[in-house]
Amino acid sequence: MLTLKPHQVQQAAELLVSGQLVGLPTETVYGLGGLASRDAVVARIFEAKQRPSFNPLIAHVFDLQAAERIAQFDPLSRRLAAQFWPGPLTLVLPRRTDAQLSWLVSAGMDTVAVRVPDHPLTLEVLRLVAAPVAAPSANPSGRLSPTTAADVAEALGGRVTAVLDGGPCRVGVESTVLRCVDNVAWLLRPGGLARQQLEPVCGPLHRAQDDEHPRSPGQLASHYAPLHPVRLDVSAVRPGEALLAFGPQPLTGAVATLNLSPSGDLTEAATHLFAYLRALDAVQPRAIAVMPIPGHGLGEAIGDRLRRAAATATP
Ligand code: TXA
Ligand code: MG
Repeated sequence: MLTLKPHQVQQAAELLVSGQLVGLPTETVYGLGGLASRDAVVARIFEAKQRPSFNPLIAHVFDLQAAERIAQFDPLSRRLAAQFWPGPLTLVLPRRTDAQLSWLVSAGMDTVAVRVPDHPLTLEVLRLVAAPVAAPSANPSGRLSPTTAADVAEALGGRVTAVLDGGPCRVGVESTVLRCVDNVAWLLRPGGLARQQLEPVCGPLHRAQDDEHPRSPGQLASHYAPLHPVRLDVSAVRPGEALLAFGPQPLTGAVATLNLSPSGDLTEAATHLFAYLRALDAVQPRAIAVMPIPGHGLGEAIGDRLRRAAATATP
């Protein structure tokens, strides 16, 4: 793994544009960055983090104008962005329908988390890349977030192409995550920007459970759930069902079929998961039947998501 010095920001940007993963300094913690528009790159971020589930990621952008190309702002979110960006504030907003963004970044949901980080090197990288960069904290799942380039090298050295050394992180804890709905701000994750700084701008902060039932109106979904029932581990398709297939021998008889990976590659399957679930949902099937998917590698996260989808879809 390369450690890039501050004068090598251009190289960091070029690596990202070519589809590589790069550790990036921010004011909060180091991020594990990759192009947010590319499904296969985002899948490799999850692979590198060895996350057993697909948590949605934050899209990092250069400024508010770039953020407005992927997310829909209302007066409250625009005021928060104007006041606190660049800075340790992440806003969860409705995705623009024309956003150039992998569905994996938002874990299949209609919302996207965006922020403008306050670090001169990463801002320069974002300016050069001129596209959103998805970056979860650069730690393997279950480990502490890294606050130096050496931490990133130690934790993920074999799994990223490079880390850009921007020195120790000033804030040291992750950004505060807010969701604005109907001009009310909900706190999804406390972080580097304190409630006392936020409330004069956004009014009283409401506290939300990260994991509320995603289908109840007005609540703050953190998982995508299809509208139609999902049936797992099927060995035969029932009448009226759509099929989410996997592997070289897809079942027959479905009203529509999409194959996550005809060759049985789990990383490829992850890149298609949310886009295919959405596409099959749109066919208005009686149910979405899902073929068995192995549980190793990214299969663990795929299985986690599918089980949630099967549990939450309303028949
Ligand atoms: O400071 C930070 O935020 C760091 C640096 C690298 O920017 N990034 C970071 O990313 O902490 P990550 O992936 O470790 O945490 C992202 C958080 C998670 O709690 C996730 O659930 C939430 O943001 N999140 C992302 N997209 C969301 C969405 N569409 N709806 C609800 N929550 C979302
Ligand atoms: Mg994290």
